[in-house]
Amino acid sequence: MKLLVVCLGNICRSPMLEGALRARLAASPLSGRVSVDSAGTGDWHVGEPPDRRAIACAARHGVDIAGLRARQLQRVDFDRFDHVFCADANNLRDAARLVGTAGQARLSLWLPWAGIETPASIPDPYTGGEDHFEQVWTLVDAAAQATVARLLHDADSGIIGP
Ligand code: 4NP
Repeated sequence: MKLLVVCLGNICRSPMLEGALRARLAASPLSGRVSVDSAGTGDWHVGEPPDRRAIACAARHGVDIAGLRARQLQRVDFDRFDHVFCADANNLRDAARLVGTAGQARLSLWLPWAGIETPASIPDPYTGGEDHFEQVWTLVDAAAQATVARLLHDADSGIIGP
């Protein structure tokens, strides 16, 4: 099973999502069975590492995301990934425009998919301070745990193969 998490710049939220999800998956019975990647709908930061505040925030929580590099979401990603999770409603709209009707079944707003309805979108911390990154981490890590729980449930139901 392959998961892709998407935000706008791929330097703040989606690298944090990727790091938190990887860490929670590695500590779960799904370890080794689910891979995670991230991308941005925009191209401004392609090739760059995550924002230094995102790297520092993840590091405070024991997760190393310094080696990640930003890339832009492509249409072909919808053939390569089983789920494409968007951080906010704008990312969902832009990703839906990119893929058209073909890939919509794989496309979700991440927090509601994980059972978190409020907030439904992950706020963009790019123009905020360190506290905004901490708030994003709290949200992202809760969603990562809920995602593992849902995937485990789906695996038990036979929706995910071995
Ligand atoms: P992200 O945050 O979508 O969480 O990576 C942003 C990073 C950069 C920009 C916007 C949002 N930007 O406009 O450059």
